[in-house]
Amino acid sequence: MAKDKTIYTCSECGGTSPKWLGKCPHCGAWNTLIESVAHSEGVVKNRFASLAKTAEVAVLADIEATDIERTPTGHEELDRVLGGGIVEGGVVLIGGDPGIGKSTLLLQALDSLQRAGKKTLYVTGEESGAQVALRSRRLGLDHSQVRVLAEIQLEKILTTLDAQQPDVAVIDSIQTVYSDQLTSAPGSVAQVRECAAHLTRAAKASGVCIVLVGHVTKEGALAGPRVLEHMVDTVLYFEGDTHSQFRLVRAIKNRFGAVNEIGVFAMTERGLKGVSNPSAIFLSQHAEPVPGSCVMVTLEGTRPMLVEIQALVDSGGPSPRRLSVGLDRDRLAMLLAVLHRHAGVACMDQDVFVNAVGGVRISEPAADLAVMLAITSSLRGKPLPKGFIAFGEVGLAGEVRPAPRGQERLKEAAKLGFSVAVVPKANAPKKPIDGLAIHAVERIEEAMGVVRSLG
Ligand code: TYD
Ligand code: MG
Repeated sequence: MAKDKTIYTCSECGGTSPKWLGKCPHCGAWNTLIESVAHSEGVVKNRFASLAKTAEVAVLADIEATDIERTPTGHEELDRVLGGGIVEGGVVLIGGDPGIGKSTLLLQALDSLQRAGKKTLYVTGEESGAQVALRSRRLGLDHSQVRVLAEIQLEKILTTLDAQQPDVAVIDSIQTVYSDQLTSAPGSVAQVRECAAHLTRAAKASGVCIVLVGHVTKEGALAGPRVLEHMVDTVLYFEGDTHSQFRLVRAIKNRFGAVNEIGVFAMTERGLKGVSNPSAIFLSQHAEPVPGSCVMVTLEGTRPMLVEIQALVDSGGPSPRRLSVGLDRDRLAMLLAVLHRHAGVACMDQDVFVNAVGGVRISEPAADLAVMLAITSSLRGKPLPKGFIAFGEVGLAGEVRPAPRGQERLKEAAKLGFSVAVVPKANAPKKPIDGLAIHAVERIEEAMGVVRSLG
């Protein structure tokens, strides 16, 4: 049998070339050729070929809709983002900045699974067995029966998986694993993709649940976890500021559960602990209201959370800066234009910085109103009233659009002692909410008017 050989595949058009070229000879794209393995048949084998086990065509209505069996990890917040627990043959990718707590969380989860009678394997490519043991002691997992393998060569890992037949295996991290079949360095796009594809195939074939750890990298030298998102069943990302105590795990993709669900953890002396009631953790404690701060209620997954949005508007140079942390920068530019055009608030010659407190990332447009009110408050040097919250999307025409499940948001705010709310008209509840004065608005200038009248 002829030996498998290396070829180069274009990531744009899928065309191949026997040698590396800067420009794809098929589609002309630059820097798209990536090393891959041509199997002996001469064509690149579909890496998902082995997944297609059932060859028969069936009528949809005749297929039994069995619910997927999930094994809880024993960590409620992690189970929440996984959609109930781990799934046989499922592949989970968990990404995040270095040092955010990926290894810690997974070691804790493996230990609970092992205690629940599952067979586990922790493959470490970044730390030695001794370092993992040290961490487990620190986590208080003294008599942990989790099996550890310090290995980075894919073929050896696959053999071990085959021999040990664990129920769950963690590969920490996918960027350290390399296959002999490729000449590229570990961590390159080619290696990361090829190794992940092999591990995915192994998971589907044997029913082991594989968790791949991927570091988010800022520069191009290491392939980030994004190149794997399409291959795996579930994609989770760690969010949060490594300097703060809280960490968020967000489900970006989940074939077995809801997306945009988040799990909240606190990093403690003894590892990550779930925070079951996270609604107030993203508020900074001001004794008295300060200019440039507005609290919003965001709804991530199933739980409403209160997040403080901070803005600082300061006179800028010839080309003023717009910077945002945890919020979309393009959206900020848009909101500034809407503020100017529809509410007469001009920040053209000002630097504008906005920040969502605690390293949380807010992607929903319901943050718009709070962002605009925080900016205006900073520009005017006037704080918003005590106990004030706002939420709602703002459109280009200056209209304030409703946010999903407004009632729940308002109730959560009332529960935490907030007393004044400015919300979209369509979100105004029919029955009053105890302790909360609600001002419903339809336009941004109306919202500004309400804030001014509140003094
Ligand atoms: P780690 O899980 O190694 O991060 P990752 O695998 O994502 O790179 O987390 C390391 C950080 O967590 C490190 O800064 C120390 C801190 N930490 C604690 O605060 N408490 C603990 O019990 C442990 C194990 C780590
Ligand atoms: Mg780690």
